[in-house]
Amino acid sequence: METRIDEIADGVFRLSTFVPDANIMFNQFVVRDDEPLLFHTGPRALFPLVSDAVSRIVPIDTMRWVTFGHVEADECGSMNSLLAAAPDATVAHGALACMVQVDDLADRPPRPLGDGEVIALGNRHVRNIDTPHIPHAWDAHVLYEEFTRTLFCGDLFTRFGESDALTSDDIVEAALAMEEFGAPTALTPATAPTIRKLADLEIDTLALMHGPSYNGDCSKALLELADGYARMFTDASAQG
Ligand SMILES: [Fe+2]
Ligand SMILES: [Fe+2]
Repeated sequence: METRIDEIADGVFRLSTFVPDANIMFNQFVVRDDEPLLFHTGPRALFPLVSDAVSRIVPIDTMRWVTFGHVEADECGSMNSLLAAAPDATVAHGALACMVQVDDLADRPPRPLGDGEVIALGNRHVRNIDTPHIPHAWDAHVLYEEFTRTLFCGDLFTRFGESDALTSDDIVEAALAMEEFGAPTALTPATAPTIRKLADLEIDTLALMHGPSYNGDCSKALLELADGYARMFTDASAQG
């Protein structure tokens, strides 16, 4: 396996490793600025590949912020290895999540983020947006980088297979097919409205964890994903 690196927006790098056995790609993102930020650490098994890839973008010991969509092995399994490799790094995650999860799991105290709170990295600023249980996990959140208008949307639009680094082709159909197959999303009455609210952001690029980055009409894609989930939720409720 190898980890490929692509710059998907100005100073935003996508690290991508395709794992053939699982037929899925695992993506991390580095924001290169005065205070470099990593979104997703990858699972522990990928740490040698991911840390090497990070080092080709910024010296790993200068990493300042370690972030992820929610607590799960592929999102943050290597969190403590990263903290060990980067002495000035701090994990930043939602405030509630820090209290129930990260305060205990991380080797150093995390920085709790309120909903809407912004971290200034230099020219780039990332805004925390809490999305509890969406697509799954109580502590779920996304980060919106305001300078490049990139939404680090984690497991939203998850799909199987290998894909290009950046596309403007449809990403909704593959995500809904994945949902039919494996049901990775916690479908609740709040799922569609929460995703629709994200569509209000001015987004140039959606940075997917398991799929390509997308630079088509991002609001439309989010609204279509929300509509698909709303249909599935209604159908499942009717069956119950
Ligand atoms: Fe996940
Ligand atoms: Fe994931």
